[in-house]
Amino acid sequence: MTVTDDDFLFHPTLISQAVRDSLVPGVQIRPLRRSDYSRGVLEVYSQLSTTGNITQQKFEGNCHGLIYVYKLGICAYGGTVLERFDFLKSTKTYFTTVIEDTRSELVVACATLLVEYKFLHECGKIGHIEDVVVHDSQRGKRLGQKLIEQLQYIGRAIGCYKVILNCTVENVAFYEKCGLGKKDVQMAKYFEPRMIQVESDHNQKNYEKYQQRQGTLDLGLSPNATKSFHTMLYEAEQSLHSTLKQAPNMTTEPEEIKEST
Ligand SMILES: CC(C)(COP(=O)(O)OP(=O)(O)OC[C@H]1O[C@@H](n2cnc3c(N)ncnc32)[C@H](O)[C@@H]1OP(=O)(O)O)[C@@H](O)C(=O)NCCC(=O)NCCS
Repeated sequence: MTVTDDDFLFHPTLISQAVRDSLVPGVQIRPLRRSDYSRGVLEVYSQLSTTGNITQQKFEGNCHGLIYVYKLGICAYGGTVLERFDFLKSTKTYFTTVIEDTRSELVVACATLLVEYKFLHECGKIGHIEDVVVHDSQRGKRLGQKLIEQLQYIGRAIGCYKVILNCTVENVAFYEKCGLGKKDVQMAKYFEPRMIQVESDHNQKNYEKYQQRQGTLDLGLSPNATKSFHTMLYEAEQSLHSTLKQAPNMTTEPEEIKEST
């Protein structure tokens, strides 16, 4: 089977020759491929954190590049829903890099550089290193270090002025060996799972109401993004509705608002 550029998350020329040449024998480094679902990439990710139940369709998607401009000015890719790989590729800001065992053809390590585009620093760019994991059967062979070197290479190549990451105390020494140093502190707020469920149920109800009113309006977004989008519109309308109700001089309501109640 021929591998086309379309199979890769980003162009393979962004892989450093020096990193390629310094890998242990029997592995190769490359961009994530759409078909890596069947090469065990999720098994590797599951050694870092929970992955949940991801189907091949949800992993890959099938991109058609029509762009709709919705009435509020929000752009959305149309055609089929953009599932994760196609969505990441369409953003051009994710550089997930993997190391593959050339004999088994399985992914044995992966890491992502996510590029943040800023106004600060004269519209500068920051690279965020995320989701670094090496399969436990392959640790200690410098695969982790090579991935970090590679992500730094991409960061420099595309003009980031720094790369940053968060990690546990146990991994500080690893990243120091990769040339990074401690800076500032990490702040986090985890959302309580039960509250997420309550909010999700609430959003679902809002979305269903909105759908009843609007019919099926296909924005070509992923199901989650569509849901959030409709919820946002619905809530904006609800808020406008209650403001209008409170306004003393407002005796009639616009047609659209009436329908939403
Ligand atoms: C952390 C991890 C990515 C390291 O990958 P690896 O391929 O085993 O590490 P490398 O072989 O590239 O190690 C490079 C150097 O760092 C050292 N090192 C690796 N992990 C280390 C750790 N946790 N603490 C201290 N030093 C470590 C190695 O000993 C080696 O040092 P040396 O140059 O003196 O020999 C891997 O252990 C892993 O996947 N862990 C579980 C997931 C995880 O914690 N990911 C990081 C999320 S922030």
